[in-house]
Amino acid sequence: MSGEGGETPSLEARGEELERALSQVQDRAGWEALRVQWIGRKQGILRSLLDDIKKVDPAHRRAYGEAVNRLKETAERRFAELDASLLAREREAARRSAAVDVTLPGRRPQLGSIHPVTLVIREMEEIFAELGYSVAEGPEVETDYLNFEALNFPQDHPARDTQDTFFLENGLLLRTHTSPVQIRTMLARKPPIRVICPGRVFRNDNDLRHSPMFHQVEGLAVAEGITVGHLKGTLLAFLRRLFAPDVEIRLRPSFFPFTEPSAEVDVTCQTCKGAGCEVCSGTGWMEILGCGMVDPRVLAECGIDPDVYSGFAFGMGVDRVAMNRYGGIPNIRLLFENDERLLRQVRG
Ligand code: PHE
Repeated sequence: MSGEGGETPSLEARGEELERALSQVQDRAGWEALRVQWIGRKQGILRSLLDDIKKVDPAHRRAYGEAVNRLKETAERRFAELDASLLAREREAARRSAAVDVTLPGRRPQLGSIHPVTLVIREMEEIFAELGYSVAEGPEVETDYLNFEALNFPQDHPARDTQDTFFLENGLLLRTHTSPVQIRTMLARKPPIRVICPGRVFRNDNDLRHSPMFHQVEGLAVAEGITVGHLKGTLLAFLRRLFAPDVEIRLRPSFFPFTEPSAEVDVTCQTCKGAGCEVCSGTGWMEILGCGMVDPRVLAECGIDPDVYSGFAFGMGVDRVAMNRYGGIPNIRLLFENDERLLRQVRG
């Protein structure tokens, strides 16, 4: 009986060893390694214990065989149990990582905002809409005829030099003002005409106050009996709506090939309200636009009889107004760099 007693406890010790090893398994890889070690078909511990049957004394062989088979069944059951509990743990972890945590704060949606230049153009369009003007638009690539010739800038006229034109290789050019839209309008329509022409314009000029691309709003009114008084009254009404009800304007004589007489218009400086400051170089005035009575030659060029009709025109840069309006933007290029901080500041 001593032989039998000797074999069985050693199998019991093996059983305890297996329990200890199973209790230390952390994950699937550990489980798999242990499974191969114990119940792997070719070299598993149980395989070799079963092979030992033939070495056991025939008298104890039956008991030994039964004990080994019990151990094998136990091992298979315990591996299956551990497999199930690992699977449950993995599923729980996956469920948790996929779950929505309803206590997290919401993500703030990115709100777009309207560019300051667009805001100012819209505001100008609104004011002129109330004065009976409609909006006209035209192409940014223009012919020499519409940008210059029809506006009474003959070839070789020195005023062309003031426009710093970008010429394209195909004989066309980037418009230097939106005045060609006024020509297009006069060519296409009969008076009375009241339009404003907002848009991008281009000049070869680049510093703190000039960008090679900037924005203009120009305006045109043509009808019978239009006078300088209408021009001045329209501009005063417009600028008081745009800036403040108490602003004053002054007209200084100037020159544009397409208007006669021509003037530059100043408005009370909005930084110092006319007292004189750095922004207006101590004058109390800000230069805001150019204007004049449409030259009869321009009307005639567009098929409008200058003996019957007269008109006025004006044009202004939008970007400076936007820089001034929205917290003193010091550099015109800031408007076109797409820096979101600028847009946030304008929105605020
Ligand atoms: N077209 C002129 C410019 O770009 C502005 C202007 C328009 C002046 C209409 C007078 C009348 O400078």
